[in-house]
Amino acid sequence: MAKPTNTVTFTDNSTGKTVELPVIPGTIGPDVVDIRTLYSETGLFTFDPGFGMTASCKSDLTYIDGEVGQLLHGGYSISELAEKSDFLEVAYLLLHGELPNSQEKQEFDYAITHHTMVHEQLHTFFRGFRRDAHPMAILCGVTGALSAFYHDSTDINDPQQRMIASRRLIAKMPTLAAMAYKYSLGQPFNYPRNNLTYAENFLQMCFAVPAQDYEINPVLADAMNKILILHADHEQNASTSTVRLAGSSGANPFACIAAGIAALWGPAHGGANEAVLTMLNEIGDRSRIPEFIKRARDKNDPFRLFGFGHRVYKNFDPRAKVMRDSCHEVLNNLGIKNEPLLDLAMELEDIALKDEYFIEKKLYPNVDFYSGIILKAMGFPTSMFTVLFAVARTVGWISQWKEMIEDPLQRIGRPRQLYIGPAERSYTPVDER
Ligand code: SDX
Repeated sequence: MAKPTNTVTFTDNSTGKTVELPVIPGTIGPDVVDIRTLYSETGLFTFDPGFGMTASCKSDLTYIDGEVGQLLHGGYSISELAEKSDFLEVAYLLLHGELPNSQEKQEFDYAITHHTMVHEQLHTFFRGFRRDAHPMAILCGVTGALSAFYHDSTDINDPQQRMIASRRLIAKMPTLAAMAYKYSLGQPFNYPRNNLTYAENFLQMCFAVPAQDYEINPVLADAMNKILILHADHEQNASTSTVRLAGSSGANPFACIAAGIAALWGPAHGGANEAVLTMLNEIGDRSRIPEFIKRARDKNDPFRLFGFGHRVYKNFDPRAKVMRDSCHEVLNNLGIKNEPLLDLAMELEDIALKDEYFIEKKLYPNVDFYSGIILKAMGFPTSMFTVLFAVARTVGWISQWKEMIEDPLQRIGRPRQLYIGPAERSYTPVDER
């Protein structure tokens, strides 16, 4: 980590005590105040509910500038990667910090491809779920269970085992996700095919049926590749922070990724893409948009406009722009001329961006606003939208987990609190209360 280049002075006016805290610079973006000595020197904690202004770690994987709507992975912009790269190449970049050369890419693709099958005994796990179980519930359960099958890759202190576990999770997540989908349909599971790309394989495992040959649609495969890249990693968001916190206790990587899946499921986070479609269906007609905008502005109404707003982006989410363009390509290719939900979404975006509340609060469409419309056009049910997000984000989660394990500064995560409960008091017997 870079050396401190500046300090800030902190004075506790109640005691007159002054402490000098080092300021550590990053490559780009805000510098940080190192507060690790604050408590020992002042007896004070800092207070930051939701850690909105707290750097929990140092990282070189991803950088977001929310003010200008910039997203970089290893220094490469998300729009360039979505346009020119493929998902496994981005996975390599996140795991190793550099884009692979042709030999490295070939080896990595081969390794991932040849880990895509899951143990046949895992098939029986699915039978234990009700057939109408939400696929996120299935994915969360089965991913945690993977640790029971791979005892040779749960020693987090062995770099070799960390890499094997990382590759297994990246390789098997699409297989498990497709199995969850097939189970919900009552259709047989499809095995992965080694002659397909990652995106093509996921589509065929989801949509192929034994009754006929499955033909890859290159436009859908390209859209799937883009969607996976756009969702790969995003700094220390809620689910990534969950994976890091679980990993900091020494839990095995499969359990940590299962924890990340659970956190992603929430409608304020990865569950928003499913919630956007539900919301658009509830709005139903453009004439009802003002009513929903009004509800979103009303502090007494818990309704939020799903797909809008972001803890970090106070400008367009660059992923939403790529997603919107891809949306038109997919709908045109599928010959879906007037998808009412897309028309409604475009109208809603147009009205919301002109609304003074949304302007004042800097609420723009985020990655989830358009993704659901593409996924629906591809044939996925809304219950699979967050599953797809989890497939893509497994690459980010496992890369962040690996970075944390390899960070000499890392310790078990243990936030403190501001205690506002009663001071110590004596127990009173029940008949005296
Ligand atoms: C993802 O962190 C990540 O990086 C996440 C993610 C990733 O890749 O990992 O980008 C993926 O989770 C995208 C976000 C998906 N969620 C949604 O679309 C749900 C709707 N959005 C909101 O719930 C909200 O915007 C959050 C949860 C995303 C952010 O919550 P914050 O940090 O509380 O929102 P904010 O600070 O940006 O809000 C500023 C103000 C607040 O009002 P005040 O308290 O200042 O009065 O705007 C309001 C919020 O109440 N607000 C909204 C709103 N989003 C924020 N009001 C109405 N509709 C909304 N969508």
